[in-house]
Amino acid sequence: MSLSLSDLKNNFNSKLQNLQTETQLKDLQEEYLGKKWLLKGILAGIKDLSNQEKKTIGVESNTLKEYILQELQKKSAEIQATRIQKQIESETLDVTAQFPSRSLGHKHPISITTELLEDIFISLGFRVEDGPQIETEKFNFDMLNIPDNHPARDVWDTFWISDDINSQRKPGDKYLLRTHTSPVQVRTMLREELPIKIIVPGRVFRYEQEDARHTCNFYQLEGLVVGEGVTFWDLKWTLDTAMKSLLWDQTKTRFRPSIFPFTEPSAEVDVSCQICNGTGKIAEKNCSMCSGTGWVELLGSGMVHPFVLEWCGIDPEKYSGFAFGMGIDRIAAQRFGVSSSRAFYQSKLKLNEQF
Ligand code: DAH
Repeated sequence: MSLSLSDLKNNFNSKLQNLQTETQLKDLQEEYLGKKWLLKGILAGIKDLSNQEKKTIGVESNTLKEYILQELQKKSAEIQATRIQKQIESETLDVTAQFPSRSLGHKHPISITTELLEDIFISLGFRVEDGPQIETEKFNFDMLNIPDNHPARDVWDTFWISDDINSQRKPGDKYLLRTHTSPVQVRTMLREELPIKIIVPGRVFRYEQEDARHTCNFYQLEGLVVGEGVTFWDLKWTLDTAMKSLLWDQTKTRFRPSIFPFTEPSAEVDVSCQICNGTGKIAEKNCSMCSGTGWVELLGSGMVHPFVLEWCGIDPEKYSGFAFGMGIDRIAAQRFGVSSSRAFYQSKLKLNEQF
């Protein structure tokens, strides 16, 4: 009989060893300790035994029952622990995991150039000013001494805001996309006390035929200094210094007489072409940036016209000022050696990623 008990124990042990799930465990428990538990069969056969034998088997089978119970509990704990461990592993968040690298992009060459220009002019004592891109005829033209029908208006081919809106507005109040940053000169002079020393970087719009140097939308940087005793010499020194620190210290500047309605006298400022080093040629061909001249026109400038000062409430007998306006796109093209500033608007990553 005790052999049968030990058989039972061995069978149990080997079944227990192969067991993996909680359901299998329950089945095994049912098999050994449930209603029809196997020990029952053994105990049924002991009625013919002597009292002493009955006692021994009773004790042994109780011990086996205890053993089975304990082993089942141990196994259950084991199975649960494995399940929880697996779950933890599958749900773990590895905060140190490396993600596939994602390109964050970077600044556009025009933004880089604008910030450089701002830094240079701020170091020369200027402050950055801003103005609206949708402007009125009055600020974009009239107050700058460019009245209606003045031939100079043709220079700035204009995007006017639609007739639906403009036909209901008086001349002067009609809306347009600003053709230059110069209207911010007027807005600032009307609003602020003297002395004024500002730069105005911003976007401007022209109804243009596009080519290597012209686009319908581009960026300008305007400058204005008004106060007592401001001279043309101050203008020359400021621009020459700014261009040398912007491009390279050997950059040459050239002032050519010019005409702008809002400055008198006026000058256009050229810098020696950085693409062809001022030679006008690249591989025996005319440089497309400077059209073979060796010079690139970067700026318009001059002494603020007395009319403009007066219309802004500033006494031209007592005060004077200089102003300038430059194309940021062209400066960016010069600085980065890009032969066509139109390339800046073509969203070509290959170009932008170089800077
Ligand atoms: N506003 C002019 C243009 O867009 C550029 C310019 C010329 C600005 C002379 C100035 C200036 O302030 O003095 O062509």
